[in-house]
Amino acid sequence: MKIAITGKGGVGKTTLTALLAYALRDLGCQVMAIDADPSPCLGAALGFPPELVAELTPIAEMDELIYERTGAQPGTTGGFFKINPRVDDLPDRFSAVHQGIRLLELGAVKMGGAGCICPESATLRSLVTHILLRRDEVVLLDLYAGVEHLGRATASAVDTMLVVVEPTARSLATAAQIQRLAADVGLQRLQLVGSKVGNDADRAFIAENQPGMPLLGFLPDDPAVRQADRQGRTVYDASPTLADAARSMAKALQAQSPASP
Ligand SMILES: Nc1ncnc2c1ncn2[C@@H]1O[C@H](COP(=O)(O)OP(=O)(O)OP(=O)(O)O)[C@@H](O)[C@H]1O
Ligand SMILES: [Mg+2]
Repeated sequence: MKIAITGKGGVGKTTLTALLAYALRDLGCQVMAIDADPSPCLGAALGFPPELVAELTPIAEMDELIYERTGAQPGTTGGFFKINPRVDDLPDRFSAVHQGIRLLELGAVKMGGAGCICPESATLRSLVTHILLRRDEVVLLDLYAGVEHLGRATASAVDTMLVVVEPTARSLATAAQIQRLAADVGLQRLQLVGSKVGNDADRAFIAENQPGMPLLGFLPDDPAVRQADRQGRTVYDASPTLADAARSMAKALQAQSPASP
């Protein structure tokens, strides 16, 4: 099962990714969580110890590795380099594991789109495609807003994309925009997650204004998220309510792809 998580900035994508990672682990899955945010913060949301996170270097920042694999210096464009570098050893070598969750940080490069042709993006694109097509784990890909950086190959290897919204008109407008962009790269399987939902009026607002996606579930607005952040704990341990909501979603996702590990 390969799941991408997207939505407007700040809606709760990273929080959902961390919750689902632990919920799927508790259902017996091997889980790899991938942080595609240019300023990585999934490790903190997963409650990884700061020392462990400090040891991680985002792949896009590994200049020597990118040079070794592509034959070109990062930052250069227009020259010759391998667009399909070897990457199969990278997920195990450059990830960290905590509480059964494997975490990999990609760093700040766009992963696809016609506009970006450089050694870093070739490496990341190959890596993400390799992980989506060849790894056996459940993969959760925490994307920053939008799907422009999802190439067609990447998109076609994702089983489902979760579009996170909060009960605001703006985040729902972003969801509609993501739906259009997803259709452009051939990604049809979108599901909506309502985040920071306080009451029935919030649920109704989302239901009435969302662009017609199947609803995977709601995550209640819970002050425990902020507390967990301050305490360096993962929300999954800090909020039984959110952990329950995540388990329901994880079960639904698992039921949708019975053949997956
Ligand atoms: N269910 C929730 N209840 C209360 N606060 C929440 C909830 N989910 C997220 N938040 C808060 O919203 C903020 C953004 O959350 P998060 O980092 O998960 O969003 P994001 O979509 O990943 O953001 P970004 O686009 O910056 O990556 C954080 O301050 C977090 O504490
Ligand atoms: Mg985030």
